[in-house]
Amino acid sequence: MANMSVRDLRERYQCFFEARGHRRIPSAALLPENDASVLFTTAGMHPLAPYLLGETHPMGTRLVDVQRCLRTGDIDEVGDSSHLTFFEMLGNWSLGDYFKRESLTWSYEFLTQELEIDPARLAVTVFAGDADAPRDDESAAIWLGLGIPAERIHFLPKEDNWWGPVGAAGPCGPDSEIFYDTGRPDHSGCRPGCGCGKWLEIWNNVFMAYRKTADGDLVKLSRANVDTGMGLDRTIAVINGCDDVYQIDTLAPLIARLEALTGHACAYSDAQYTRAFRIVADHIRAATVAIADGAIPSNVEAGYITRRLIRRAIRYGVELGIRAEPFCAQLAETVLSVLGDAYPILEQRRDVIVSELAREESRFKATLERGLREYRKLFERLRRDGRTTIAGADAFNLYETFGFPLPLTLELAREDGLLVDEGRFGELLEEHKTDSRRGAEQKFKGGLQDHSEQTTRLHTATHLLHAALRQVLGASVRQMGSNITPERLRFDFSHPEALSEAQLREVERLVNEEISRNDSVSYDVLSLEQAVEGGALAFFGAKYGEQVKVYSIGAFSREVCGGPHAAHTGELGGFTIVKQEVVGQGVRRIRAVIASPCEG
Ligand code: ALA
Repeated sequence: MANMSVRDLRERYQCFFEARGHRRIPSAALLPENDASVLFTTAGMHPLAPYLLGETHPMGTRLVDVQRCLRTGDIDEVGDSSHLTFFEMLGNWSLGDYFKRESLTWSYEFLTQELEIDPARLAVTVFAGDADAPRDDESAAIWLGLGIPAERIHFLPKEDNWWGPVGAAGPCGPDSEIFYDTGRPDHSGCRPGCGCGKWLEIWNNVFMAYRKTADGDLVKLSRANVDTGMGLDRTIAVINGCDDVYQIDTLAPLIARLEALTGHACAYSDAQYTRAFRIVADHIRAATVAIADGAIPSNVEAGYITRRLIRRAIRYGVELGIRAEPFCAQLAETVLSVLGDAYPILEQRRDVIVSELAREESRFKATLERGLREYRKLFERLRRDGRTTIAGADAFNLYETFGFPLPLTLELAREDGLLVDEGRFGELLEEHKTDSRRGAEQKFKGGLQDHSEQTTRLHTATHLLHAALRQVLGASVRQMGSNITPERLRFDFSHPEALSEAQLREVERLVNEEISRNDSVSYDVLSLEQAVEGGALAFFGAKYGEQVKVYSIGAFSREVCGGPHAAHTGELGGFTIVKQEVVGQGVRRIRAVIASPCEG
């Protein structure tokens, strides 16, 4: 089936599953809410974690969506023909509804009938079994029955065929992955998952029947779920018969724009530039959506990832000789034109995207200029000492502190008749990467959606705080963000000025009064319209489905939310505001803690 557009595929996929009883839900933001354990939404299941762990979803037990995702784990692979940091994931879910047979059958039907992919090009993997869970003979039998020959069904261990949890804890289970044969030559031992590029993973069906606890135990969930994820970008490339994901209609215009920005001095098809073009296109696309979703470039957390993506893109832009300034914001305009229809937040945040990218670009360019001065000093020093080689540590300092890509240092050195200790530079770069990876692993130690009782109570406390702020400051207060760790809650809201000490104490008093009432927490499933008419707070219109859950806490608070929550306010024990801060124009932040049950 030649020339299907990304938009067509999104639509056909969702319609296919709607015809099989699924309801559409909107893409969540790239920044997870109420979940401090991960920086970005990395898979469609991420925003659904509470429901995969047993919460009731307002749209029912069969869901389908297109989720925007960001993964930086493979950032070093970006630049080849298939890896991306930002991508779209098509997903369908069974929340305790259907299981392996329906899931695999529909995946196969969708690929071979709806998309007309030649079944002879497909191969699958299933879980080989270990001490934790049995070998997945059931899935293998289903694949055989569908017509996949035995030699194209591979049993693989946990490293390959077990998905999740995203961090140390959360829902997980054995999976069955579907691969597409790109037709590249075989080599001995080549099989799906080997990474040589012959086999492209396009769809993963996870049989999420387990939950890993923070202590590392595997517990069977009371109901088994299915979580699937199909890489939209890769799949559309495959259907259209191109083995370069950057040729799809949501990426090719970015490449074309970049070529124009080099004044057509560099061509994407010229092998020496291809990788740099891909990196710039991928990173600016990712940074654009990240900024729209609130990850403004900064030195911490998600904002730091955005900053790194932009700066990395600029370095490669320099390699391409892009002179236009500011080019990142210009490229972002193209991102908006190709993704804006699917993700309305992009248009809504256009001004912020453009100004933040321009600001970050000029900041980084200033750093690069400082680097150039630093290089000059280094050069003078070497000349004085009669040396001809730039030490690896000096080249690394130019890279790390001033953002100099190695090719730039090499070029300057060549002009000045110097050599660079590239070997040592490479070693230092490796060490640095290992350190950052360790840092990232630490970050994920808390696990995906830590639904401990403590974080659940803090979530309930957040609703009480929100309601109390509106009582004290007025109904113009709007939630702007929320972030919960097992230790504390952090709540961002709109308000033009700092709260007085008396206002803070009054807010605290109201919340504690509600806690001492020990009111029960309950929810109703309503249409969004009914919910808003009934006075429920609902600030994120675009992210809700047609049906929503409205959580009521006594007569104190009514808010659209997915849950989970404490059953009674008394469980919170007590509430203390620790700090108020300002996070931007008109946005205040409150950090607060609750008493743990034993203290409370
Ligand atoms: N959650 C699964 C994945 O991301 C479907 O591969």
